[in-house]
Amino acid sequence: IQASRAAQKNDELRNLSLSGHVGFDSLPDQLVNKSTSQGFCFNILCVGETGIGKSTLMDTLFNTKFESDPATHNEPGVRLKARSYELQESNVRLKLTIVDTVGFGDQINKDDSYKPIVEYIDTQFEAYLQEELKIKRSLFNYHDSRIHACLYFIAPTGHSLKSLDLVTMKKLDSKVNIIPIIAKADTIAKNELHKFKSKIMSELVSNGVQIYQFPTDEETVAEINATMSVHLPFAVVGSTEEVKIGNKMAKARQYPWGVVQVENENHCDFVKLREMLIRVNMEDLREQTHTRHYELYRRCKLEEMGFKDTDPDSKPFSLQETYEAKRNEFLGELQKKEEEMRQMFVMRVKEKEAELKEAEKDLHEKFDHLKRTHQEEKKKVDDKKKDLDEEVNNFQKKKTAAQLLQSQAQQAGSQQTKKDKDKKK
Ligand code: GTP
Ligand code: MG
Repeated sequence: IQASRAAQKNDELRNLSLSGHVGFDSLPDQLVNKSTSQGFCFNILCVGETGIGKSTLMDTLFNTKFESDPATHNEPGVRLKARSYELQESNVRLKLTIVDTVGFGDQINKDDSYKPIVEYIDTQFEAYLQEELKIKRSLFNYHDSRIHACLYFIAPTGHSLKSLDLVTMKKLDSKVNIIPIIAKADTIAKNELHKFKSKIMSELVSNGVQIYQFPTDEETVAEINATMSVHLPFAVVGSTEEVKIGNKMAKARQYPWGVVQVENENHCDFVKLREMLIRVNMEDLREQTHTRHYELYRRCKLEEMGFKDTDPDSKPFSLQETYEAKRNEFLGELQKKEEEMRQMFVMRVKEKEAELKEAEKDLHEKFDHLKRTHQEEKKKVDDKKKDLDEEVNNFQKKKTAAQLLQSQAQQAGSQQTKKDKDKKK
């Protein structure tokens, strides 16, 4: 190790020849064996209108019958449904997850149709990130649910892309490998299909939608990928029905006027899709998901959480420093909040005090007013009493005078009768 470090320091690596077999040439085989025993996982997202042929195409692609129940056209919104299967081909095991967009394109208002899809993809990234951030993580046997390929089913209208298609693809293109396909391609005439394809591609370009680019950097696949790219978006036909063609059975769709063979390259691009998606680029799709899309999600998420690799002076910034910085920021905020609350409290108390004082003043005024009216009333009553007393006095005086007069009159009367009696005598 020291020798190699020294060599690297001097910026030169010496080429040595081995004089006998060592064995590290078996490393690729070791890798293959390990991966094979571990098994693989691949997750496909099918985005497309209800009844556009998603389930049929999946069955046709993997030569099997996956469980699926047709959706109705009256779903209140778009929802995603994932189903996982374990498949085996020779000694290779594949854990396949197919995610379906149920109710896509069925609502009158389609503004939010892309949201559940974006949310689903982000949720799978988040789950992986959480596993990565754990202290005790088990990424080795983690069931990776991140979407590796998104098959976008375009309706075979022969016109152009719908705005729902453009909006959805634009929202998804930084999160997932999009492979656009024209569904039910048996319904478009050959020369129209050619125009339709180039129309779609130019619309994708002019709207800045990034679809999955088949890799051309590795020489074993460069040629096939380059030639296949020309045929995008693949015009596919799905069918699980076997029809006798010549003396062989082949998957096909039978019409009153003829037969469309799914695996005949003159009839449709089904084989091209299968080659590109499964046989040639499955591993690249998995890798791109991890190194490009997941990496982007992870970076944004960690930056959002306040992590950074360097400080403003572009010096390395460790996790510890990030933690301390966040902690200080949090404490500062807490203090600010506390101070705000205290000031608010003081203000409230002052307000209440002023209110109470006002109320007291009012009460005093009311009391004074009452006192005054009471005094006035009392004075009036007193005056009346005085008047009445006077009246009573006057009355008494008059009464005694009258009584006096009456008794004098009686006396005078009795004296007269006495005189009269005496006279008679
Ligand atoms: P939901 O899951 O209900 O949204 O539908 P889906 O998108 O899974 O469509 P499905 O595969 O159930 O197909 C719906 C109908 O379209 C069926 O009658 C299929 O036979 C038919 N179909 C599927 N693929 C093709 C195709 O390539 N061409 C034509 N003409 N019809 C197709
Ligand atoms: Mg279906």
